[in-house]
Amino acid sequence: MSGTVRWGVLATGGIAATFTGDLLAMKDSGAEVVAVASRTVASAKAFADRFGIERAYGTWAELAADEGVDVVYVATPHSAHREAAGLALEAGKHVLCEKAFTLNEREARELVELARQRGLFLMEAMWTYCNPLIRRMTELVRDGAIGEIRTVQADFGFAGTFGAEHRLRDPALGGGALLDLGVYPVSFAQLLLGEPDRVQADALLSPEGVDLNTGMLLGWESGATALLSCSIVGDLPTTASVTGTAGRIDFPQGFFHPESFVLHRPGREPETVVTGPGPQGLSGMQYEAAEVTRALLAGEKESPLVPLEGSLAVMRTLDAVRDRVGVRYPADVRA
Ligand SMILES: NC(=O)c1ccc[n+]([C@@H]2O[C@H](COP(=O)([O-])OP(=O)(O)OC[C@H]3O[C@@H](n4cnc5c(N)ncnc54)[C@H](OP(=O)(O)O)[C@@H]3O)[C@@H](O)[C@H]2O)c1
Repeated sequence: MSGTVRWGVLATGGIAATFTGDLLAMKDSGAEVVAVASRTVASAKAFADRFGIERAYGTWAELAADEGVDVVYVATPHSAHREAAGLALEAGKHVLCEKAFTLNEREARELVELARQRGLFLMEAMWTYCNPLIRRMTELVRDGAIGEIRTVQADFGFAGTFGAEHRLRDPALGGGALLDLGVYPVSFAQLLLGEPDRVQADALLSPEGVDLNTGMLLGWESGATALLSCSIVGDLPTTASVTGTAGRIDFPQGFFHPESFVLHRPGREPETVVTGPGPQGLSGMQYEAAEVTRALLAGEKESPLVPLEGSLAVMRTLDAVRDRVGVRYPADVRA
């Protein structure tokens, strides 16, 4: 690949716009946005006009076939990640696919196998893992700054007014709090501790059968535990804490894209670690966009920051939580 990575955006919803805005603001990064696809050509054209994108398609297949696109960013509801990312990979495109990676681990494994067979780059858009403060925190933990991890706490929830027609309430679209929000606390805990040995959970389900409010307790053979929760009916604080045998790290808010954390160690003053000044007006997605661009220009097939085995392990935990609380998606049983 030359010194430029040409992006195609697949879907024109909320996160597609946020991500594209960050991508375009990354001046001199080597990234260009050259095409967009939607289920309707009108929506693709409106998105292209808004962001100054050259080519607009009314089908995903046209984007996948565009020879001027190197990497496709999949921003559909989770239920379409398998199909859309698969289409792009089959057509020889690298893929960045929104979280939750897919509806279940089987679909995620199919994508990983396809990317590996084709020698293509694939990454779950777990932007948290690319955030500089999260990277600093994991370095500190790995260097023993808080000793051996005993407990991880993390939550993500907001009280939305999602009608029964909203994708978050629709089992066919992978609705519920877990795949949209719970994926963050689970990914946070697994970044530090790896795949859990035990998964327990309880949830309030909607009449449609998606989870509205979910509590999880993960356990590891080391004795470490993680207490995690997610909700679309409660304004959770979005805090996280990592407690070890020799200290604790607190994320006071928005742990999934933090601006600061506090390191507590016995006998020392608490130490606040903050992000350096970054570009104004960006949403925090620039770090994952930069990581994909870097990896592609380096010829890598997988990001060391968001490894595919880690994404598969998160999907297995999400599957286990759904199993415990009784949330089934139509795609879980494939004909
Ligand atoms: N990284 C983050 O911070 C973050 C934040 C929010 C969401 N997400 C993830 O991004 C994905 C999309 O979320 P979103 O909030 O952007 O959703 P959204 O606003 O509802 O947009 C999703 C888009 O997907 C397309 N689409 C394709 N098939 C669809 C279907 N059957 N029903 C509805 N839309 C369909 C639509 O675009 P067209 O009309 O152009 O086809 C729609 O605008 C989800 O997987 C979500 O978890 C990530």
